[in-house]
Order: sequence, then C-alpha cells, then structure tokens
Amino acid sequence: MSVRIEEPDGIVLQARDVRFDWSQVPLHWIPGDPVASHLINVLHMLLPAGEEWFVRVFKEAVPHIRDERLREDVLGFIGQEAMHAASHDGVLEHFVAQGLDVRPFTRQVDFLFEGLLGDRGLTGDRRRSWLNERVSLIAAIEHFTGVLGDWILNAEALDRAGADPTMLDLLRWHGAEEVEHRHVAHDLFMHLDGTYSARLRAMAETVSMLVALWQRGHRFLMAADPIVQGRIKGGLRHLRRTGPAGLTPDGRMMGASIRRYLRRDYSPLREGSTAQALEYLASSPAAQAALR
Ligand SMILES: [Fe+2]
Ligand SMILES: [Fe+2]
Repeated sequence: MSVRIEEPDGIVLQARDVRFDWSQVPLHWIPGDPVASHLINVLHMLLPAGEEWFVRVFKEAVPHIRDERLREDVLGFIGQEAMHAASHDGVLEHFVAQGLDVRPFTRQVDFLFEGLLGDRGLTGDRRRSWLNERVSLIAAIEHFTGVLGDWILNAEALDRAGADPTMLDLLRWHGAEEVEHRHVAHDLFMHLDGTYSARLRAMAETVSMLVALWQRGHRFLMAADPIVQGRIKGGLRHLRRTGPAGLTPDGRMMGASIRRYLRRDYSPLREGSTAQALEYLASSPAAQAALR
C-alpha cells in the first residue's frame, strides 16, 4: 500500500536533469536472481521506443488542446518522457557492452512504435481519429506506468534483496515522475475523445500488447544473457514466484489495477501519492549528481 500524505496541488511539470553511472551495475542487479532482474529489464527495452512514440503523438496533439492548463501539463509530460527514454537507452548501451546484445529485440520494438503505431500519412478526419486512438492507447499505458511507479517507490523487498542502488534509483526516479504526471495522458484523452468505449478498447489492446511484449522480452533476455546462456527459460510464469516475493509486480495487483481503470469514475489521481513521488525526487542520487 502507498503512503498517503496530504497531496500537493498545482504542480508545474518539468523534466529533471539526471546523471547515472552504469559502470558498476551488474547484469543481474538483483543479486543471484537473473529471472527477476530480467523481468524488470524488459522495461529498458520497451521504454526508449515507447516513450519517444508518446512524445511524437503528444506533440501532434498539442495544437488540438483548448485548455491552457492541460497544454502546459502536456508540454511538461513531453519533456519528462524524452528524458526517461534517453536514460533507459543508457542502460541498454551498458547491457550491450556487458555482452547482452538487446538489439535484435529492440529493432522489433522500434518497428512496432515507428511502423505499426506511427504516423500513417493520413489527412483530415482520418488523421484526427488515428491521433485520438493513439492517445487512448497512451492513456491506458500510462495507467500502468503510474501503477508501476507507485509499486517501485514502495518495493522494499528490492532493498532487502540488495538490489543495485543505481538501477533502483533509475527505476524510482522514473517511477516517481510517472506518479507525478499520471493524470496527464488521461486528461488529454478525456479532452480529445473521452468515450467509455474507446477507453475499454484501448485497455484491452494495451493489455494484450504488454503481455505479449513482456513474455517475449523476458524469453529473449534469458536466452541472450551471456551468464545464464539459456539454462533457465524465460516467461511470465516466473511472476508466480517473483510477484509474491515483492521483487516484481504481481499478476493479482495488475489485475486489480485494470479493474479500477475500467470503472466509469476512474481517476488516475487515486493511484499512488504525489507527495511520496516528490519526496523521492528531492533526494534521488541521480538528480543530485546532475546538480553537481
Ligand atoms: Fe516515462
Ligand atoms: Fe509517463
């Protein structure tokens, strides 16, 4: 459960500068647990392409926004997501240098976001409805990034397991900004379309896309890992151990969060705590390193 403290209001979203030194971070950054490490490492392979796609779609949406406050939030969101994408790219370069070549998988992820979900060269109403559809998908995905952000901020089992502090800081800095801006994509979706049927459809598509990517991504990492060498087969069935152990999110928590999203009175602000996110951001080692 999240710590619920009085929530601050009227925050101006802005990208924070961060510096990470990956040189000492092991591939199995949860010591002795390649399975759990890679269940989370799948994120590093999805986020750079995914978040750059958010940025492109939201930039296209900006001229359609008729609310000054929302426009400001969307611009802040764009700045934060661009910084997240670049930071996860840094982890991927480090993985490649350690002999874990992620590029065969990330090329497929690039194709998904740039090809299948990219700009289709449409015009007029068709362009607008393709924009709305992609915004609805981003709102559903951002429900999960907010839920996962709240989870990682409270994942004390990772500290107890001796997880690498630089990796934890990346995940918690990112998670905290996800919690901080968790309302923006939903607000934009409600502003541009907001129909319940679009929300349902987007969640159904997002869940099937994320489950498939997570499953294939984990299998890929376990097979490509130079230490594991395919001796343990990857897959989401491992969540049955890692979830209850608190090392990864678990299926039941994710299922409950989907049911909340599908409620007609859903509000992203009921997921996680802005105060807790801001508290973490004020003390994040990577944010402090950037200030120095
Ligand atoms: Fe992000
Ligand atoms: Fe986000």
